Amino acid sequence: MSFKKIFIKTFGCQMNEYDSNRIYDNVSKIGFIKTDDQANAACYVLNTCHIRDKAKEKVYHEIGRIKKLYRDKKKPIMVVAGCVAQAENEEILKREPYIDIVIGPQSYHKMNDLLKQHETNLKQEETEFDTISKFGHFDKIKNNDSKVSAFLTIQEGCDKFCNFCVVPYTRGPEYSRPFFKIVEEAEQLIQNGAREITLLGQNVNAYSYKENSKEFRISNLINHLNQYSELKRIRYTTSHPRDMTDDLIDCYSSNKKLMPFVHLPIQSGSNRILELMNRKHTVDDYIKIYEKLKKINKEIEFSSDFIIGYPGETEKDFEDTYNLLKKIKFINSFSFIFSPRPGTKASKLDIIDNNVAKQRLTLIQEKLFNNQIEINKSMEDQTIEVLVENKMKNQSKLFGRNKYISPVIFDGINSNIGKIVKVKILKSNQNTLFGLINKNKKAA
Ligand code: SAM
Ligand code: SF4
Ligand code: F3S
Repeated sequence: MSFKKIFIKTFGCQMNEYDSNRIYDNVSKIGFIKTDDQANAACYVLNTCHIRDKAKEKVYHEIGRIKKLYRDKKKPIMVVAGCVAQAENEEILKREPYIDIVIGPQSYHKMNDLLKQHETNLKQEETEFDTISKFGHFDKIKNNDSKVSAFLTIQEGCDKFCNFCVVPYTRGPEYSRPFFKIVEEAEQLIQNGAREITLLGQNVNAYSYKENSKEFRISNLINHLNQYSELKRIRYTTSHPRDMTDDLIDCYSSNKKLMPFVHLPIQSGSNRILELMNRKHTVDDYIKIYEKLKKINKEIEFSSDFIIGYPGETEKDFEDTYNLLKKIKFINSFSFIFSPRPGTKASKLDIIDNNVAKQRLTLIQEKLFNNQIEINKSMEDQTIEVLVENKMKNQSKLFGRNKYISPVIFDGINSNIGKIVKVKILKSNQNTLFGLINKNKKAA
């Protein structure tokens, strides 16, 4: 078979990254092969994100850029996938004739048929919510992602409907994949070289799969994965405070491969704002989870997501958020100004003054970034465990991550890739630790 090249540009969260890899696996069955050269592809896919800002406009901007790239060449089959495709569906085809296929995240199992039918030059749009069929189809294909650190989607969609968020509209209702299908995929990833697996879901800890009147939760999955000796580390993201149940919390004492790092979005430190957001958890609930986990293992560190300038946020609400950062020293967090998303309840509310929102964001980020710098600084001169992921592009150095997922760049040898090594940290900045292998300490 002669292969045609396919290039996917991925935006947004890890779930999009996982999806892009599954699309690559899937289209290989009809003669497409992954390329990193975006200027010479027979098929160009934009896997889009709709979570904030001018997501739709970014798509058209990207198309303008791709048109220029292919001005003197054969036009690629242009596919818009992901959450913007789901939200905008046939509107995209109407507005931009350069686009051939629009496909939503729950329809990727239909991608091959759409590409084959494209030969007849039809414009096509596929945005049904069909999660079960998607995973049913993907289960039959090898997950070829052979990275040291691999993603595995266990759950998709969301039923929580926070007033600011598009995810329930772009990813559809909550769906949990069958337990044993996930295990099969994990085994495949480990065989392909994965030494760390991150379980993914829009609400990953809401995972619940029932079979023969037994319920499987994320804690069952984590404990099951623990038995594979080649697998060194387990993570999961993104978790929701409401689903932080005791069985999951207990994993932090019973399971040595589960990393002591919890990404737990709070969004706001003000109960009034949390209620306006329809979050259905309070700051106190959050602090209780933090304290329970710290009691189990004081090494556990936290990161979070914050929305600043939510409609109705007063100076006092903002101070509550700021003061929470004094109580919990998040080691790295995402913070953004509220962005009205089409179709959500909050999009109809009056937004607060943009200058005020910007000032608040600056204050929050200063505090968060200073925490990060301080924590990284405290690791200097220490020897820490690093899972080595790859060699840096155009450099002799290796790249890996510590248990808190912070990037570590250090001098080592290629045979260290895929292993946990001890690295002496010599320098740090806000985002990265720099060091060299401590030869006196044995690798795992
Ligand atoms: N399910 C997770 C939870 O509930 O905590 C979050 C998943 S969401 C894909 C990732 C993050 O995007 C959220 O935690 C939130 O901080 C941010 N986000 C979502 N909608 C937003 C909006 N309209 N404006 C600004 N940030 C937003
Ligand atoms: Fe969005 Fe998370 Fe809320 Fe669901 S729980 S609506 S994904 S922020
Ligand atoms: Fe973005 Fe969709 Fe993920 S909106 S954050 S790509 S679920």
